[in-house]
Amino acid sequence: MALISIRNLSIHYYTLSGIVHAVDNVSFDILEGEWISIVGESGSGKSTLAYSIIGLVPPPGRIVTGEILFNGRNLVKLSREEMRRIRGKDIGMVFQDPMTSLDPLRRVGDQIAEVFIEHGVLSSWKEARERARELLKKVGLPGDRASYYPHQLSGGQRQRIAIAIAMALKPKLLIADEPTTALDVIVQDTIMDLMEGFKKQGTSILFITHDLALAAEHSDRIAVMYAGKLVELGSVDQVIDNPLHPYTIALIKSVPDLWGEKKIKSIPGYLPDLRNPPRGCRFHPRCPFARDICRREEPEIIEVEKGHIASCHLLKKR
Ligand SMILES: Nc1ncnc2c1ncn2[C@@H]1O[C@H](COP(=O)(O)OP(=O)(O)O)[C@@H](O)[C@H]1O
Ligand SMILES: [Mg+2]
Repeated sequence: MALISIRNLSIHYYTLSGIVHAVDNVSFDILEGEWISIVGESGSGKSTLAYSIIGLVPPPGRIVTGEILFNGRNLVKLSREEMRRIRGKDIGMVFQDPMTSLDPLRRVGDQIAEVFIEHGVLSSWKEARERARELLKKVGLPGDRASYYPHQLSGGQRQRIAIAIAMALKPKLLIADEPTTALDVIVQDTIMDLMEGFKKQGTSILFITHDLALAAEHSDRIAVMYAGKLVELGSVDQVIDNPLHPYTIALIKSVPDLWGEKKIKSIPGYLPDLRNPPRGCRFHPRCPFARDICRREEPEIIEVEKGHIASCHLLKKR
């Protein structure tokens, strides 16, 4: 069952130098209890998409078309206040740098406890602080860390605090935007394990990363974004073993161990300027298989095998 349905979502940034087409006509579902990862190079629109789900697309960004359906409501239409209530309670989010969401001047225990007070779950600070200490243990930190300030903790510990805050009210969805990118590999693994634990308890995870290997290791499904477009979506096996879109194939070849290739083949060229994206298929300037139609017409998303979709003109020939 779909927990969240994103339909024809387009998001623009209205900058002084032009309109950035950051997310363009993206549709997909986040299923109940699944781990879905969005992968793609930096600048492909992953964070913008994630922010839109919690109503936090930063100015000068705006959702221009589309719907985000959750519990029978279209989140795009909600007021700031209604969205605030959903954020934290039904949908939690963690960011690459936990310092952006933590208050440097307050003890972390109080910052966790505040979630219970703010959402009216508890009225007594004493109880809320107790719950905060329990939560600390749940994310693998000793209870006494409650009295620490963010700067007294390591990057990995701070990310655990951010996860504790995001998970305090047991949201149905945890959005994690590059949560381990700033951490070393060993700490990264422990954070991934922590999220796996929440998934086992039924939380859906929307994991955003530029690291395809990491996504392949942890997800049920993988969505590939390129230049604001969803270009492919399928189960991990479908996407990794039988990639359909030339961009996905190039991404896989750029990861050394995924296909057992020793040499990394980086993708030639650059992500296009999203103020003026290429006509036709946005990937055509970098695509080794591009033909005339790719320069002229935008490819539709087609379902090539059950649950495995991609948008590429070449797929029609199969
Ligand atoms: N606040 C902003 N103002 C203007 N453009 C932005 C802003 N944030 C992101 N963008 C642009 O939107 C596009 C998508 O960015 P983003 O969603 O951050 O991608 P990703 O998370 O995949 O790296 C990029 O072209 C980026 O430059
Ligand atoms: Mg990002």
